[in-house]
Amino acid sequence: MAPSETINHSHDCEKYADGVDWDELGFGLIRTDYMYTMKCTDGENFSHGHLSPFGNIELCPSAGILNYGQGLFEGLKAIRTEDSRIMLFRPKENALRMKMGAERMCMPSPSVEQFVDAVKRTVLANKRWVPPPRKGGLYLRPLLMGSGSNLGLGPAREYTFLIFASPTGNYHKGRAALNLYVEHKIHRATPGGTGGVKSVTNYSPVYQSQKEARGKGFSDVLFLDSVTGKNIEEISAANIFILKGNVISTPTLIYGTILAGVTRKSIIDIALDFGYQVEERMIPVEDLLEAEEAFCTGTAVVVNPIGAVTYRDKRVEYKTGEGALCQKLYETLTGIQTGRLEDKKGWTLEIN
Ligand code: COI
Repeated sequence: MAPSETINHSHDCEKYADGVDWDELGFGLIRTDYMYTMKCTDGENFSHGHLSPFGNIELCPSAGILNYGQGLFEGLKAIRTEDSRIMLFRPKENALRMKMGAERMCMPSPSVEQFVDAVKRTVLANKRWVPPPRKGGLYLRPLLMGSGSNLGLGPAREYTFLIFASPTGNYHKGRAALNLYVEHKIHRATPGGTGGVKSVTNYSPVYQSQKEARGKGFSDVLFLDSVTGKNIEEISAANIFILKGNVISTPTLIYGTILAGVTRKSIIDIALDFGYQVEERMIPVEDLLEAEEAFCTGTAVVVNPIGAVTYRDKRVEYKTGEGALCQKLYETLTGIQTGRLEDKKGWTLEIN
């Protein structure tokens, strides 16, 4: 064990961290006790990961991540069941997605086993920060970054894999139905770009659209494809689905512009089990405007209803609430994640 990995076992006696209003969790950072770090240099594999107290990290000003955005992140949650077991949801999927993204960004990546083991250790070390049942989840944020110094353009010579954790509740307050603005001037991803991997560089470019839309009273932004500007792609931090009749549609992954969400994949499976036809396809904005329901999915947003979209000067409203499919999908997914429903698919991993 690394010297910094001394866990304060006095925490084991305290079931929950003090000073957190568990009923008011949102999606902001609450500093927890420990973070996990593992490094790798020049052609070697990642090894010797360790836990250390949560805190700032040191980087050379010329680190690849700071100058050229050579970095990826992941997001997954540890959830406490009614009988106080702690479960992860499909962590191998996040590990595999990080591996795929690492190839695109010319980075080495931890193995799937290293990734899952690191996540488990981070959760166990921060157990008292896993919210009580039904209050939210401990959000894990694995980062992979070029931490080596580099002035010329090229892959860094040292990499850092780091996981920090924060208790979180709903991403959108109260899981309120979203009022989306369809952005038709600025694009999020291009074919052949990095939209399909969780590169850190995909996210801040949405701020400008988000800021303008929020200034006009919208909750978030939906982006269109950058080639034709005619098809819906992704919301700033989530995948999108629409429902018409018995058909559920979501934008296809084949152009590399859509993130292969773990929640997206799970919702497709649940919807198929419910007997819906699921189509992964190019979705013209007109189909969105004619849909009966629309909702978004992601680790942070889980399954969130979309109440309305505005495209140019046309506003359309959708069915939301108790009778909506979105609610049924949300109940089933969270039922599995929280142990309320039997996990017939082997998606959950109990870690305590
Ligand atoms: C997640 O759902 O885990 C995300 O990565 C969303 C994040 C951009 C807030």
